[in-house]
Amino acid sequence: METDKIVCLNDCYMPAGEAAVPVADQGLLYGMGIFETIRVSGGLPRLVGLHLSRLQKSAGELGLEVPYSPGAIEEMLYRTAQKNGITEGGLRLTLTAGGGQCRPSLLVQPRDQTYGEEMYSLGIRAGFSPYVRNERSPLVRHKTLNYYENIMARRLAASSGWGEALFLNCSGNLAEGSVSNVFLVRDGRVITPESGSGLLPGITRRRVIDACASLKIPLEERVVGPGRLYGAGEIFLTNSLMGVMPLTRLENTPVGNGVPGEITRLVAQEMERLAAL
Ligand SMILES: Cc1ncc(COP(=O)(O)O)c(C=O)c1O
Repeated sequence: METDKIVCLNDCYMPAGEAAVPVADQGLLYGMGIFETIRVSGGLPRLVGLHLSRLQKSAGELGLEVPYSPGAIEEMLYRTAQKNGITEGGLRLTLTAGGGQCRPSLLVQPRDQTYGEEMYSLGIRAGFSPYVRNERSPLVRHKTLNYYENIMARRLAASSGWGEALFLNCSGNLAEGSVSNVFLVRDGRVITPESGSGLLPGITRRRVIDACASLKIPLEERVVGPGRLYGAGEIFLTNSLMGVMPLTRLENTPVGNGVPGEITRLVAQEMERLAAL
């Protein structure tokens, strides 16, 4: 991130280059902390309530202290977006554990929108990660600071020209992407790995489930063997920043007829409609 962007660290606003956390923070030493990536559109941080409740819930389960009220954090998000003049983009909210004499730190920083128009109109390509996701890990359903494995998988994916890496779990079934949840469409049904498959229960994943209910498109949360991906007519990926992203090539194989699918488009459109209500 550019050092002149404004960040909010523990309710103080400063250029990114001047912000620092104490070296005793267990977030730095052991990766003990959590984060949220929040979409900003029309100048406003979106779905803030959902992001803050996931943050609170994860903090409770992982024994982290959240040093500010939801209202105060919401204010920090709005002000950071405003001070950086973000109209379309994102914010990252990070909570560290602190430790010893050191208080937890709460950081809000701008996050660029890296998903371009062409990616939505053509769809992206993904392949399988050589690393497996441990569905029994107590961390897997939280957005923790332990993202090294995801980053390694993503780097490998990028070296093959893929935009995303898909993780299988220890049982060999589909879990999630390195930064996304995965959905496939077969015979008019939308299918996504069930939550015990080793995944972050994404906010956008929940919105897809709601949009399918609203459209009366059958949706199944189930165990998904990797072979099912190859027989899918459509696949799409979701996260808060990308929204719904068509996946049109799986390694060297086109998904369906290799272009973004109709159900993918309908679901994305319904999510927009529901968000605007
Ligand atoms: C590993 C992983 N799974 C799923 C998601 C999707 O989560 P959300 O829709 O809440 O952004 C993300 C988001 O970054 C992620 O990193």
